[in-house]
Amino acid sequence: MPDATAENATTSSPASGPKSMDDIMSLCKRRGFVYPASEIYGGVNGFWDYGPLGAQLKKNLRDAWWQDVVMEGCCGQTGPNGEPVRIVPLDSCIIQNPKVWEASGHVGGFNDPMMDCRESKSRYRADHLMGMGAKGDTTGQIYAFIENDDESFERALKKLGKYKKAELGKDDVDVCPLMDLSPEELAITVGPDAKEAGTLTEPRSFNLMFKTVLGATGNMEDNAAYLRPETAQGIFIHFKNVVDTTRVGLPFGIAQTGKSFRNEVTPRNFTFRSREFEQMEIEFFCHPSEAKDWYVFWRDWRMAWWQGLGLAGENLILREHDSDELAHYAKEGAGTSDIEYRFPFTFPGFGELEGVADRTDFDLRQHAEHSGLGDKLKYFDPTRGELAKNGQPKGERYFPHVIEPSGGLDRGVLAILCEAYIEDPDRASGVYMKFHPRVAPIKAAVFPLVRKDGMPEKAAELTKTLRKRFGHLGFIETDEKQSIGKRYARMDEAGCPYCFTIDGDTLSDGTVTVRERDTQAQERIAMDEVPAFLAEKLGL
Ligand code: GAP
Repeated sequence: MPDATAENATTSSPASGPKSMDDIMSLCKRRGFVYPASEIYGGVNGFWDYGPLGAQLKKNLRDAWWQDVVMEGCCGQTGPNGEPVRIVPLDSCIIQNPKVWEASGHVGGFNDPMMDCRESKSRYRADHLMGMGAKGDTTGQIYAFIENDDESFERALKKLGKYKKAELGKDDVDVCPLMDLSPEELAITVGPDAKEAGTLTEPRSFNLMFKTVLGATGNMEDNAAYLRPETAQGIFIHFKNVVDTTRVGLPFGIAQTGKSFRNEVTPRNFTFRSREFEQMEIEFFCHPSEAKDWYVFWRDWRMAWWQGLGLAGENLILREHDSDELAHYAKEGAGTSDIEYRFPFTFPGFGELEGVADRTDFDLRQHAEHSGLGDKLKYFDPTRGELAKNGQPKGERYFPHVIEPSGGLDRGVLAILCEAYIEDPDRASGVYMKFHPRVAPIKAAVFPLVRKDGMPEKAAELTKTLRKRFGHLGFIETDEKQSIGKRYARMDEAGCPYCFTIDGDTLSDGTVTVRERDTQAQERIAMDEVPAFLAEKLGL
């Protein structure tokens, strides 16, 4: 894992204000990081596609996770038991037997409260709505706005000011969650996009599971199936298979990455809340008595991992949950925390990037009960239990506890895009993407200064060498068109860390110019040394 150096941290602090999300989204489109899905048909709400650079950026983040978590067992760290951390991979289906989702609680309980506005026809997540009234005024009209949405807050403030016939500021209002209002108070509440009061419906539950039908002749009642809302359950249902067919013993983890689907009521904030997204999940199984120690280990290691990829400044925080935030599977006293990033649209607040939860034995017990397997799903631990006459433990049968670090790949990519975006009026592009070299989709670019005198041939030779050595990590670009300044500018916007230029001197003395993205500094090195130079800079 790379170091979390201060140099990698490019923060937008509360003092400097948030970066513009519109500008970041515009660069993402312009440079082929992210496109709206089905754009030529007007798009489809809550779905995003990755262009060439975005697809590689996402792959690099997924590969970094896979390498560090699965292949190196937490980068070779020892766990709280003093042993190397053992993780094995899995790749389970998106569609499973519907009983999986009944057992996990998703069919019955995976609901968001939502409110509709009869006037504006808008739909809102009820737990994201806040109400404001004039300070100390308990009878006047209430104006609803969307939490962490400055525009919506300002609109409500303006409407309240008009109603009170006064110029109101932030300090002149009281705010509270809309879910806390009584039906009488809701009747005098004006929706975020409405003019009249009383047009918001009471909160209603909305199941987030995407339903589909299995088979050509199936009907929705008898042949319904669900797209998975998390990859985690695919792991729980194979816990016994993995134990029985591999040589792993507790404590160990099973990891997988893959798509999950949630019919979010209000998908928004670019890719942050999408209806189709990818997760990177680990279910780490251990003896109940060791769960606390493993929870602390995973929480701290996952935080350090994100920091190591350049999210190292004050934009990243670790937040332990309050007891009233616990998920349905979490027990009182079992730890749950979020690793949160300060996105421009949550600024000055934070949004969840990864959750680390002590899920106790909830899921394994649920599957034991619903599958009818009962105690057969328990783990037999030959290293525990009372001692037999021969001095050896008799063994203990138990449901392991599970620590779950569950990260969002798309949210990780979004945080990396937001963090990397740096405005710099002193360079031709006006902006550059300061990606950590490990995730940068383009690792290097090779340019012939001009299209003559053997320079294109030399550039092609170096490009071929670098692609052979580094092509599995990202693009090695080459470009002969336009001025060298314009080519550097394009690479700055794409976040390419190093450009190598072949010029007249290359042909006489075998050296090339290296231009470094962040400092724009240039130096000359021997063309033969370029692979070693790049390997060192990429931390290989
Ligand atoms: N297995 C536990 C679980 O799924 P979660 O907090 O619901 O927990 C884990 O999801 C991670 O998945 C989140 O931290 C977030 O990064 C990502 N995620 C969840 N819903 C998402 C959505 N609608 N769009 C993008 N990412 C999402």
